[in-house]
Amino acid sequence: TTNHRIALIPGDGIGAEVLPPAQQVLDVLGRRHGFSLSYTSYDDWSCERYLREGAMMPADGIDQLRDKDAILLGAVGYPGVPDHVSLWGLLIPIRRSFRQYVNLRPIRVFEGIDSPVRGAQPGEVDFVVVRENMEGEYSEVGGRLNRGFPDEIAVQEAVFTRAGVTRLLDYAFTLASRRGGRLTSATKSNGIVHTMPFWDQLVAERAASFPQVAWDQEHIDALAAKFVLQPARFDVVVASNLFGDILSDLAAAVAGSIGIAPAANLNPERDFPSMFEPVHGSAPDIAGQGIANPLGAIWSAAMMLDHLGHPAAARDITDAIASVLAKSDVRTRDLGGTATTVEFTDKLIEFL
Ligand code: NAD
Ligand code: IPM
Ligand code: MN
Repeated sequence: TTNHRIALIPGDGIGAEVLPPAQQVLDVLGRRHGFSLSYTSYDDWSCERYLREGAMMPADGIDQLRDKDAILLGAVGYPGVPDHVSLWGLLIPIRRSFRQYVNLRPIRVFEGIDSPVRGAQPGEVDFVVVRENMEGEYSEVGGRLNRGFPDEIAVQEAVFTRAGVTRLLDYAFTLASRRGGRLTSATKSNGIVHTMPFWDQLVAERAASFPQVAWDQEHIDALAAKFVLQPARFDVVVASNLFGDILSDLAAAVAGSIGIAPAANLNPERDFPSMFEPVHGSAPDIAGQGIANPLGAIWSAAMMLDHLGHPAAARDITDAIASVLAKSDVRTRDLGGTATTVEFTDKLIEFL
């Protein structure tokens, strides 16, 4: 049987509560589909470690992950350590060192979900946000000067490169050609006058190579409104790093809860391991109570199986998610239920 080496990084808060359910589901599928997963756990790569030792991970942390086939991560960041310190000490270095420039964030409104959005019908809303994951607004160009003085200043340049945007667009257009054949580009070229017109130009250039894809562009502000008003019209939505971040939480809320949404941080060339993690964070407000929704992590595990070459096993997971939501009323609080993380996971495994 094929064996895959998986790095598990639970991280902070509910990260450590949602990874064991994902692992449980993975092990069921390994037995059924004839593959095995060997895990290496990095349990102490977290804010606690930072407070103890001054670093989120060891100095050779990235090298420890390099030989893995994939990384499954919970969440990073917790009160007590500034977010920019914890995130730039663990999550973001992984995305960048392993050139995970595509952040794929699918969203579906499942039957049995009570979406806060009236027009979001089950079966009709099914789209993917393709988020740029290495550059754009999340750049390292800039700085802070004159701290504490009246002339204090903070600057962060948004960096868009032809190579960086083009490779993302190629991924997004290819995905659109395999899905519903439609692509929407998130822009703000009416207000962000240097980078966004460049983005638009590159979209138009790449579109010429994908005549089978119908594409359009929307300003990010109007697009946010359309996510709520007409969520069924989208297929592939391609966006810069920050725009994609915001849109993916919004899309998750449209689908009923931020606790459902998965993410794949992909290195499409497979030179390095890709990383799979729920869209949500460490949720300090509910951490330690055992009530976090595990579906985001479980669906992320499905994306990992797809990436590792087990699409049928991945489909078993998304089918089980659809079934448990449609056919049972067991669900966590964020979805209007009363189940704990463990109870919801057990019910899902019954359907699996
Ligand atoms: P968050 O996603 O952690 O929480 C936002 C809200 O959604 C909270 O009310 C939370 O209880 C709820 N929620 C999130 N996941 C849930 C789940 N699985 N089940 C039920 N409810 C859920 O966002 P935040 O509060 O902005 O961030 C908290 C910390 O997490 C911060 O340190 C932030 O930087 C970090 N963060 C990390 C990641 C990541 O590791 N990829 C992503 C987002 C935020
Ligand atoms: C996400 C998170 C991260 C991001 C933060 C925690 C740096 O919000 O994965 O969506 O903005 O990429
Ligand atoms: Mn986010």
